[in-house]
Amino acid sequence: MTIEIEKLHPLYAARIHGVDIRKPMDAASLAQIKAVAAEYVVCVIGHDTPPTNDEHIAFSAKFGPLQRGKAPKIAGTEMRIAHPEILDQSNLDEVGEIYSDDDRRLAYKRANRLWHTDMSFYDVRATYSLLAAHLVPPAGADTEFTDMRAAWDALPDARKAEIAHLEVEHSYWYSRVLGGGPQPTDEERITRPPARHAIVHLHAPSNRKALYLASHAQNIVGWPEEKGRALIDELIAFATQPRFVYAHQWRLGDILIWDNLATMHRATPFDDRTFRRDMRRTTCREREIIDA
Ligand SMILES: [Fe+2]
Repeated sequence: MTIEIEKLHPLYAARIHGVDIRKPMDAASLAQIKAVAAEYVVCVIGHDTPPTNDEHIAFSAKFGPLQRGKAPKIAGTEMRIAHPEILDQSNLDEVGEIYSDDDRRLAYKRANRLWHTDMSFYDVRATYSLLAAHLVPPAGADTEFTDMRAAWDALPDARKAEIAHLEVEHSYWYSRVLGGGPQPTDEERITRPPARHAIVHLHAPSNRKALYLASHAQNIVGWPEEKGRALIDELIAFATQPRFVYAHQWRLGDILIWDNLATMHRATPFDDRTFRRDMRRTTCREREIIDA
């Protein structure tokens, strides 16, 4: 397999040519792809038709222990895709119809339009997410990224010294409500308690420091709420300046691999009441977790 790299942004993000995840892959090719992912942190692999769920899962498993889902996390809903490794990121209900206006899942999915990194609300964080495009609407719905290593590097040294020791509390429900979703039920809330993470960490694959923030970040540990909120807002605004942002325009069959420990991302709007968008994600964790 001959792999070629096309840079998509001056700082990070690459399209990898010459790879088809549906075909057997030798160890050397896989090592090359991992090296590209370590450096570029957002990688695109295109296909003429979308990989099957099984192909998607098999490829993803090469990047680390996979998140396996549990029962539907929103009370009273069913799964459209039966594979526990696949997170359904579509706007489709369990029979493939566009969500009704009052569906809680639609409101919660719209919270993905806030800058975030996946699963920062868990103690065991997400490493790579792999998102496959099965149906793409005719306009909109880009996914935007930012490089949190570049953002850290660009902070003034004095600011780095002031914040480097801080810890941040991340909550799934905080970002759902922030994004316009309804308050969770007590039953829902208990499924995802908050988690604490350092505000900056060493991104081991590239040996660079990276900010670690997200819309899930609700406060700075030990700080008054308003002061903590102001710092989180300031740093997210800093990290998402246009110079750091890559906007991915989806093509049917794309698989996008991003490193949640070195990036943030957000969904952008499309006409989700008219057009079907079928996106399916697998997620690798820092270590194996079996959710109850
Ligand atoms: Fe996400």
